[in-house]
Amino acid sequence: MAAAPGRRRPAVLLWAAVCLATALAVDRSNFKTCEQSGFCRRQRGLQPGHSPYRALLESLQLGPDAARLQLVNEVTKVPLLLELWGLQGNVTRIRIKELNPLRPRFEVPDVLVAEPPVERLAVTGRDEGSLELSLGPAGHRLLVTEKPFRMDLLQGRELLCSVNARGLLFFEHLRQRRDSFSDKVSSSVGSLWDKIKTLFHRDTPREPTAEEGGAAEGQEETTGGTEDAGTQSEKPTEATAEAAEEPGSWEETFKTHTDTKPNGPTSVGLDFSLPGFEHVYGIPEHADSLRLRTTEGGDPYRLYNLDVFQYELYNPMALYGSVPLLLAHSARRTLGIFWLNAAETWVDISSNTAGKTLFGKLLDYMQGGGETPQTDVRWMSESGIVDVFLLLGPTPAAVAGQYAALTGTQALPPLFALGYHQSRWNYNDEEDVAAVERGFEEHAVPCDVLWLDIEHADGKRYFTWDPSKFPRPRDMLQRLAAKKRKMVSIVDPHIKVDSGYRVHNELRSRGFYVKTKDGSDYEGWCWPGSAAYPDFTNPEMRAWWASMFAYDQYEGSTENLFTWNDMNEPSVFSGPEVTMHKDAVHHGGWEHRDLHNLYGLYVQMATAEGQIQRSGGQHRPFVLSRAFFAGSQRYGAVWTGDNAAEWEHLKISIPMCLSFGLAGLSFCGSDVGGFFKNPEAELLVRWYQAGAFQPFFRAHAHLDTARREPWLFGEENVALIRAAIRQRYALLPFWYTAFYRSHRHGLPVMRPLWMEYPEDATTFAIDDQYMIDRALLVHPVTEQGARGVQVYLPGKGEVWYDVASLQKHHAPQTLYVPVTMSSVPVFQRGGTVVPRQERVRRSTECMRGDPFTLYVALSPQGTAEGDLFLDDGQSFDYETKARYLHRQFTFAGNTLTASSADPRGSFDTPAWLERVVILGAGKPAAVVLRPADGSETRLDFQHEAETSVLTLRKPGVRIGDDWAIVLR
Ligand code: NOJ
Repeated sequence: MAAAPGRRRPAVLLWAAVCLATALAVDRSNFKTCEQSGFCRRQRGLQPGHSPYRALLESLQLGPDAARLQLVNEVTKVPLLLELWGLQGNVTRIRIKELNPLRPRFEVPDVLVAEPPVERLAVTGRDEGSLELSLGPAGHRLLVTEKPFRMDLLQGRELLCSVNARGLLFFEHLRQRRDSFSDKVSSSVGSLWDKIKTLFHRDTPREPTAEEGGAAEGQEETTGGTEDAGTQSEKPTEATAEAAEEPGSWEETFKTHTDTKPNGPTSVGLDFSLPGFEHVYGIPEHADSLRLRTTEGGDPYRLYNLDVFQYELYNPMALYGSVPLLLAHSARRTLGIFWLNAAETWVDISSNTAGKTLFGKLLDYMQGGGETPQTDVRWMSESGIVDVFLLLGPTPAAVAGQYAALTGTQALPPLFALGYHQSRWNYNDEEDVAAVERGFEEHAVPCDVLWLDIEHADGKRYFTWDPSKFPRPRDMLQRLAAKKRKMVSIVDPHIKVDSGYRVHNELRSRGFYVKTKDGSDYEGWCWPGSAAYPDFTNPEMRAWWASMFAYDQYEGSTENLFTWNDMNEPSVFSGPEVTMHKDAVHHGGWEHRDLHNLYGLYVQMATAEGQIQRSGGQHRPFVLSRAFFAGSQRYGAVWTGDNAAEWEHLKISIPMCLSFGLAGLSFCGSDVGGFFKNPEAELLVRWYQAGAFQPFFRAHAHLDTARREPWLFGEENVALIRAAIRQRYALLPFWYTAFYRSHRHGLPVMRPLWMEYPEDATTFAIDDQYMIDRALLVHPVTEQGARGVQVYLPGKGEVWYDVASLQKHHAPQTLYVPVTMSSVPVFQRGGTVVPRQERVRRSTECMRGDPFTLYVALSPQGTAEGDLFLDDGQSFDYETKARYLHRQFTFAGNTLTASSADPRGSFDTPAWLERVVILGAGKPAAVVLRPADGSETRLDFQHEAETSVLTLRKPGVRIGDDWAIVLR
């Protein structure tokens, strides 16, 4: 949340402005449109079909790992280097940079977890104007066409993706600035030089010297360059766009802010055509439908981490985080485009079927005249290089795995973090915290974590406590620990400029702040008033920041205190678009422009590292971050920022979290209840019910809202909220196992239906229901006054069981489910086993060692399988000492078997099996338990004929043991 940028105001006034504004929507004029963003406008000015680029096929060099060849802009003559890799596991990497840049261009560090292993490339064909490369054993071939340059990626005879097929490759090479005098001189000298040059060097690219860079490019329009360039000069091309050097190329003003752009225009862009694809997803964060829309006639989707006050729904405006990963899906395959660039980025999407009705498409198909559906995607970034990974699937799971292999998987959260979190801006003091905690006890509502927002710190000096409101933080934390609860305090990355504040003094004296272009510490206005911004891109600064979480540095902190990093876009109330000036300077001399979208990731990275270090490397961290980038999943949780207590905001939390998940960020949630405004009881209850089935489950509210702890809405509503939260806790073993799987393999925990049913086109545009892992389908109630919901149950020949009634339903079908205020439509997929812990407890820590119940939902074939991951829930021992259990449960041939899913792990737990509920079972004559020692015991059971539910009582075996239960 941010106040309107502009003049400096005391923070109190700022809040007042914020509070007064709560009835208003986003002020769009604070944020740039593409037209107002110089490079976006320049790039969009380049129309398809006029690419000035030629591939110099004769320059091909085939190394042991990569293929390299030159591209040349035939107008400017500036040569680029194209590098191609076939990476193991069906990934193609394409990199384009300047062959001889005036100075280095930014290449994104710290996002890729490893240099991916490469496949051997080979030239498999060549003719006059093209070249064919094979990219490894999967049979992928890349056809490089010389002129205009384009690439087509094929598998067998199938065209998967074309690159620069629309000719939108855009590369603004680094150049010298010309002042108006030298401009004129260089213009006439350059013009002469150009004439000479065209006489002698018609088609040969040259390496521009620093001085020539500007002059050469300034002349092409008048001289015409080469023959082709002559023809092209009538058409809008990148070169003419460059040559014109329109106002804004070297300096750009937005509202009251001027971006000095010392390096001039530096943007890059490229287009990708995806034949056969009509559905594209990803590129969070946007408050939009899961399926991305075409952007023709409107703005492109924008990726630029911004603190957007009261964001609007269903539009492509940028929000707090960015992951430049787009997925395309069809019934035949899934494919991903990962555009590794951390600068401001815009993404245009167009499609040849957009706007056509289903009937229209059908007609096309029947008449045989329809074009192949195709989606075109165009990426535009303000600086850096073109570095793109084509993730070739072919399945949704394969694409998730390919992306995870590049950027890492979701960190395994400590178990408590999957419990319920109670937050508000602010819990006022220690008494308030104690009273809220008591409320949970008295109303028997489970809760793991209480949160403290910015008011807890002494004058917004993070790492400190307000001495009058929180005089004894350690005691407060210990009281919580005694109840097996945790606390999270906020630590934002803007540091109060105050010579009496140790954190500030150290950062300043060590030279760790981001600098202005003139070399002084960059200062802006944020919660504490005047603030400076630690340079998280500097590894030394990050190490220092991490050290601040040591118990003796962060005074009053204890083992059960964790961290919330907010405002890390970074938010600068007084900055352009409420963020940092792009010409601010970071470690290594890089401009903020180059790495803006990475800043938030580094903040979370350094904080998580701090928590790990304070425990001597023993314990897993928990850090919630508002800003993020590709790879942020390795450091903790994210949420959807400042939503509002409105039904539409509840609805959009589903597609938003789904798109986070598709981009690797599994640990996502939205503020339960809505941040701004006061929810009515019905909305609050529905939000708890939905939130209980989203990965990160936290209620949070604005400073100015009425208190809304669960018990403040009357008996009936607290009962409903309690039930929702208890349901969450009962399913924690399932959630934890899903997170473990996501941590291992990169699949999102909360996923769209089409990830599980990739061939079922009905699922492709669904974003009001989703899967948790592969077993539960959830359709939260998000309509006011709902009497029922339409739930689509996918899977030909499959069955689903309503988790509330245990009733069986056949699929595929759209089922009308009547609902009351207590209903949360959730279905367990036939063929799965879901573990639960059903004892009611105050927090996750109290559930340790509790017995388990297995819900075995039989497929029509009478089979089921599922698993359970178990460890101490907090340490890295599962990784470093193999202290874990991964159990496998299989039902087949009327026998349920428990075995080890992974014999490498072992973990001692007293937990035992309390109950087994078999859904879709006939009545057996007898049920026999066979533990590993070979003995046999008869089990008590109960069979409900009406629902075909068989409940086995007290098998009593230990959850870590092997056993079998036979139905006779
Ligand atoms: C903005 C965050 O999005 C919000 O959750 C928080 O309460 C305020 N900042 C105050 O820290």
